[in-house]
Amino acid sequence: MNRILFKKQLSDEVFQMRIEAPLIAQERRAGQFVIVQLNSHFGERIPLTIADADPVEGSITIIFQAVGRTTHLLAQKNVGDTVEHLVGPLGQPTHIEKFGRVICVGGGIGVAPLHPIAQAMKAAGNEVIIIMGARNKSLLILEDEMRKIADELIICTDDGSYGRKALVTAPLKEFCEADPKPALAVAIGPPVMMKFCAEATRPYGVHTMVSLNTIMVDGTGMCGGCRVTVGTETKFVCVDGPEFDGHLVDFDNMISRLKAYKPREDADHHRCHLEEEIKNKEKDER
Ligand code: FAD
Ligand code: FES
Ligand code: MG
Repeated sequence: MNRILFKKQLSDEVFQMRIEAPLIAQERRAGQFVIVQLNSHFGERIPLTIADADPVEGSITIIFQAVGRTTHLLAQKNVGDTVEHLVGPLGQPTHIEKFGRVICVGGGIGVAPLHPIAQAMKAAGNEVIIIMGARNKSLLILEDEMRKIADELIICTDDGSYGRKALVTAPLKEFCEADPKPALAVAIGPPVMMKFCAEATRPYGVHTMVSLNTIMVDGTGMCGGCRVTVGTETKFVCVDGPEFDGHLVDFDNMISRLKAYKPREDADHHRCHLEEEIKNKEKDER
């Protein structure tokens, strides 16, 4: 059992939690994730990036967006509650070295997994430029934390409610055209955003690393749920990734596989809301 030590709501749908996990806190490195199972009765296992860790407190930080049943149930938990199973650290750590100028691009909740990578890139002596994008101002997360790391921070919103009214690919392209050319781009966010970031850097030959958010079940390379095509090879995101060369990833195949359980997920989500409504009604009647 892993106790929740801290909880904060970062935006309408996004939550930050610090959870007791002393062994994971000691071992984890930037780019790695955990698989969370809330309890044995409701068995869905979901991967969440380790956004930060405190080996002294023995805790890890997760930042997640409540999108469906499991993430909504997790969001309902409070300090003192427990998460039954937390497995990790999983996946390959990010390859960190002094590259020179590194452009880190985060879209929506993708800013959470990007944060430890940007932090490690900066600590390795890189010039770190961060581009953060969201649909609107209220969905932006970790602005202060990213500002502390970045040599330059650019914020883009789709509706222009904050920062520049643009997609993240616009400033990314401008940096690719500038001198010095970036040595590396790291893009994390919705699959469509990562696909277009890879297309934006391709003509300039800027190596682009993406972190793939495929469906996962076991997280150990056994079930095949997270299978992706990278160049001519089949890879398993949970053990070979989650980071890959964005210029080689077959995003269209990945996007279509992500929709595999959509009708069931929607039905599950609907049931979850009904359960919540019934619970609230019972509370009101008491
Ligand atoms: P559902 O309604 O069941 O699903 C919503 C969508 O989430 C689906 O359409 C599908 O695209 C995806 N999804 C569903 N089940 C899974 C599953 N078992 N594994 C992976 N994706 C699934 N999200 C965050 O908010 N913060 C993070 O730090 C984060 N890190 C991730 C790291 C990795 C390596 C991966 C692969 C995913 C990460 N995700 C993260 C995505 C997160 O796992 C999904 O949002 C979550 O599983 C949705 O579950 P649900 O039951 O709430 O929603
Ligand atoms: Fe099962 Fe990767 S999650 S093989
Ligand atoms: Mg689900």
